Amino acid sequence: MAEKRILLIVGGGIAAYKSLELTRLLRKAGVAVRPILTKAGAEFVTPLSLSALAEDKVYSQLFSLTDEAEMGHIELSRSADLVVVAPATADLMAKAAQGLASDLASTTLLATDKAVLMAPAMNVRMWEHAATRRNLAILRADGVTFVGPDEGAMACGEYGPGRMAEPPAIFEAIMAMLGGTARPLAGKRALVTAGPTVEAIDPVRMLTNRSSGKQGYAIASSLAALGAEVTLVSGPTALPAPAGVKRVDVESARDMLAACEAALPADVAVCVAAVADWRPADASAGKIKKTGKAAEPIALVENPDILASLSKGARRPRLVIGFAAETNDLEAHAKAKLARKGCDWIVANDVSIAGTMGGDQNAVALVSADGIERWERMAKGEVARRLAERIAAQFA
Ligand code: C5P
Repeated sequence: MAEKRILLIVGGGIAAYKSLELTRLLRKAGVAVRPILTKAGAEFVTPLSLSALAEDKVYSQLFSLTDEAEMGHIELSRSADLVVVAPATADLMAKAAQGLASDLASTTLLATDKAVLMAPAMNVRMWEHAATRRNLAILRADGVTFVGPDEGAMACGEYGPGRMAEPPAIFEAIMAMLGGTARPLAGKRALVTAGPTVEAIDPVRMLTNRSSGKQGYAIASSLAALGAEVTLVSGPTALPAPAGVKRVDVESARDMLAACEAALPADVAVCVAAVADWRPADASAGKIKKTGKAAEPIALVENPDILASLSKGARRPRLVIGFAAETNDLEAHAKAKLARKGCDWIVANDVSIAGTMGGDQNAVALVSADGIERWERMAKGEVARRLAERIAAQFA
């Protein structure tokens, strides 16, 4: 990757701060980053931060004598292997779609003969506006590749699609486009479970939990990025299916087990789902009515353990990995779980740390028969990438 060069156009949106992290990930992977910061982008991140992380000069003026003397804007647009626009604002998308050349960023996009990747970020209404839809269709037809946007809470207080994709996802899209991704898991089949399960009490009520699915989705995405053929068996989440992953949607634990068995054979199974331990013994066929008295207690029966049954099944994947959320005695509990479930590795996450459940960071330890390895606290995407690399090493 050392010789690969990215031209990174940072537009003006609150998501611009994520482009600093993206720059860091790219530099860590040995990719050269030359940043262009738009005038609006400079309202959100400083040229100094961008330049320090990119270890390069930041370009922002179309008519700068010094910049033109050092590197003309035409050369700037051609010196990279890939042009990345993150955040790609509605304005930048519109300019690029119409072929405007009114500032350095848009001129560069018009003058480039290289592949372009855009990570859109804008308010949900702007994203859904007919004008943006048109521009998106034009840019796609022109060959521009898109990553995201994600759905979620927005800085403006609204909810919906429009959040810029997370830096690890953009990083993976870049690596795939650069063709630099080693694909050590090519030809391997992976099964990942993620999200919560939902157990019906009656047709309108249910038992479930707060799992967001973020960690499982990130693992599915990282395994796919390394070339694996991934089936993601997912309970209900608000997340989009990661690129290149086959998602099977399920609700109950029993459905999840059936979908997992249908996805076999697999070389590796990673059980990240927060499967409900119990379900109502008899889900009522009709809506349970209020009677004005205390409700009848709901009898619960235990759900099948998907991880344990995959571990002991006749078609056991060669590598079976479970997760364990622990608040104390992480190591002892994880070791006991390893034995009880019959899996090969347990990724134990310390959920006593505030913000782990549903958040973007995770502090984990990898427990196997060989011992325990504690990883520092890192983004869930980074945990996923490292785990996928460890899985690939196991199959090397
Ligand atoms: O037993 P516990 O829920 O603590 O174990 C967590 C691990 O077991 C996770 O990997 C989870 O995905 C898996 N699990 C499962 N089926 C269940 C319960 C947990 O696959 N019914």
